Amino acid sequence: MKNGLALFLGVFATLALSWAGLLLTAHKQLGSLSQFKDPVEETLNPLPLSGLADQGRLVYQDLGCVSCHTQQVRHEGFGADIERKWGQRASYARDYIREKTVLIGHSRLGPDLRNVGVRLGDTASRDEYAEWFYSLLYAPQSKAAGTNMPSYAFLFDVHPTAGRQASYDALKLTSKFAPPAGYEVVPTARARALVAYLQSLKDTYDYPTERSLNTPAEISKEGAH
Ligand code: HEC
Repeated sequence: MKNGLALFLGVFATLALSWAGLLLTAHKQLGSLSQFKDPVEETLNPLPLSGLADQGRLVYQDLGCVSCHTQQVRHEGFGADIERKWGQRASYARDYIREKTVLIGHSRLGPDLRNVGVRLGDTASRDEYAEWFYSLLYAPQSKAAGTNMPSYAFLFDVHPTAGRQASYDALKLTSKFAPPAGYEVVPTARARALVAYLQSLKDTYDYPTERSLNTPAEISKEGAH
């Protein structure tokens, strides 16, 4: 084949250029995103994950929560995420810059968790939240009867209370979910980290710069009417 080299170079250049184009465009759009400073409040957003929440992210990854839960609120008009109250706004790329591995997920057997840290409302205290998450992880049926979310009871210690002070974060389980009399259910370090991570999931800040950039064209036209 006389033109073998030219053919090879042609194919190589085509593949290399399209690969570089794909990568460089994505990098230009997303690679340089950084924290945004609120012009009035002077706060930086998004806040980095706390050390404990960052460990919890690894537990979340490790236990495969991502196989049933997504972390991405879709735009209005692209699904009912906002009507379902999974978030007050769609997710922006900037929301994810604090995470080393973005756990967007791909199938939704359970609800989207991107804003699960505020699902009970602003008035719920941190402890009420933690208790809600712990009970759900220990005995999902106690919070959502009939759910197919598996139990993560192995993230908890069940031990006798005799001869020791009751633990401050022992679960307040009732009826058939309660441990036998004289026993308490206490979260392990992994459960604490996982729950700190779940509590950190809240994209409540709405970036003034992001809305127009991230709203698909058809919707921004509709909004202009
Ligand atoms: C087999 C699929 C499955 C897996 C795996 C799974 N879940 Fe779930 N999860 C569900 C379903 C279904 C629900 C909805 C419960 C209901 O009916 O309200 C749910 C609900 C939840 C909720 C409550 C959300 C809300 O808005 O009420 C949280 C929080 C949660 N899961 C966290 C986790 C975490 C953390 C893990 C990993 C340790 C996990 N899930 C693994 C299926 C799953």
